[in-house]
Amino acid sequence: MVVISEIFLVEYSRVWGQIFVGLQEPRRSFPSSRQPGTVVFSMRKVGFDEYLEFAGTRKELEVESSRVKLEPIEVKRIHPSPEELTDVSTTVWSFPKRGSWATHRGDYRGNWPPQMVRALILMFTEPGDTVLDPMVGSGTTCIEAVLLGRNCVGVDINYYAIMLTLHRIYWLRKHLERLQGSGSHRFGTIMEESGKSMGGVTVDEMLKARIEVYHGDARNLDKIQDESIDLVAMHPPYSSIIKYSKSRVAGDLSAARSLEEYLAMMSQVVSESFRVLRPGGHLGILVGDTRVHRHYVPITYYVLDTLLKTGFILKEEVVKIQHRMKATRERWAKLRERDFLLIYHEKLFILRKPKNENEYKKYRHSSARISG
Ligand SMILES: C[S@@+](CC[C@H](N)C(=O)[O-])C[C@H]1O[C@@H](n2cnc3c(N)ncnc32)[C@H](O)[C@@H]1O
Repeated sequence: MVVISEIFLVEYSRVWGQIFVGLQEPRRSFPSSRQPGTVVFSMRKVGFDEYLEFAGTRKELEVESSRVKLEPIEVKRIHPSPEELTDVSTTVWSFPKRGSWATHRGDYRGNWPPQMVRALILMFTEPGDTVLDPMVGSGTTCIEAVLLGRNCVGVDINYYAIMLTLHRIYWLRKHLERLQGSGSHRFGTIMEESGKSMGGVTVDEMLKARIEVYHGDARNLDKIQDESIDLVAMHPPYSSIIKYSKSRVAGDLSAARSLEEYLAMMSQVVSESFRVLRPGGHLGILVGDTRVHRHYVPITYYVLDTLLKTGFILKEEVVKIQHRMKATRERWAKLRERDFLLIYHEKLFILRKPKNENEYKKYRHSSARISG
C-alpha cells in the first residue's frame, strides 16, 4: 500500500513559482523537443493513484533554497475569514492577506489569490457549472471550485504542478470526507462575498464536484469538447519572458525567448480557450507588465488585444494591487538614481464569449469590431 504521508522533493523557481524537475523524471507525456514555441502535446488525465505513487517516492519540497516538508495537509477551516475577504465590488482589488483556508498554502509563490478566483467563480458560474484553469499551477482554482460546488478541469504543462494540485485536492477531499462522516456537513450561506445572493454549499455538494486534472499544454486542449466550459480562469506566466531559461519545461510560456514569441503562444492559448467556452461564458485572466531598458512594456495591453482579436468582448478591467513587494522596494532603494516608477499592480481582464453575431454589434465598443 502506498504511504500517503510520505513527502516529496521538488525544486521551486523563485521568479515564476514553476515547479521544476525534482528527483526523477515523470513517467509519461513529456514532449520531445526543447523548443519553447513549437511543442504542443496531447492532454493526459492524471489521477490520485498516480499522485499517491509519486508522493510515496518523495519526502520534501524545496522552496527557493530551503526545503519544506510536504506532509498531509491539516485543514483548520474551509471558509475564508472576514479579514481575508476584501471588497470586490469596484475595479480595484486588493488582497493584503494571503488566503490560507482549506488547503491553500503560501509555499507556492506563483499562485494567485484564492480570493480572486473565488470572486470570479461566484460572479460568473452557478453550482454544478464547470470551471477550466488551463494553467492550474498549485491548484488554487480547483480548490475554490470544490468549495463552491463547481466542477473543475485543471491543466498544466509542468508535471510537478499537476502533482502539487492533486496533493492539495487529495487532502481537501480527505478533510471533507471526515466532515461528512462526522455528520457536521451542512453549512449556511457562504456566498455573500460577491454581492450575489446564492444558496449555500454543503459538504455533500463539495464532494460531488467533479475534478479532472491533466498534464497538457494550454495551446492544445484536445480532450476538452467545444463549448463545454462555463468559466475559464487563467493566470499565465508573464514576467520573466525576456530572460530565456533552459530549465523551463518545453512549451511553457515563460520559456518564450521574446515578447513576440510569448504573444504568439498566448494567441494559441486564447484560441483554445475560446473554442471550449460556451457562448455567453466568461474568461478571467490575470496578467502583469514589466520594464525593459527602464521603459514600460505593456504586456497586459498586448494580451488584451489578442483576446479581443480572437473574438472576446471585454466585460471588466480590474487593477489588482500587488503586495509583498519588499524585495523590489529594497533593491531599487539602493540605487540613487531611479528614473522610473515601480510597478505595483497587475490587471485582471474579464471577457465574455458573445452568444451570437448580433452581440458584436451591440457591444462593438468593448470588442475588436469597434468600427462595425
Ligand atoms: C503563474 S502559474 C499559475 C499559478 C496558479 N494560478 C496557482 O494559483 O497556483 C503559471 C502556470 O502556467 C503553467 N504553464 C505555462 N505554460 C503553459 C502551457 N503552455 N500550458 C499549460 N500550462 C502552462 C506553468 O507550468 C505554471 O504552473
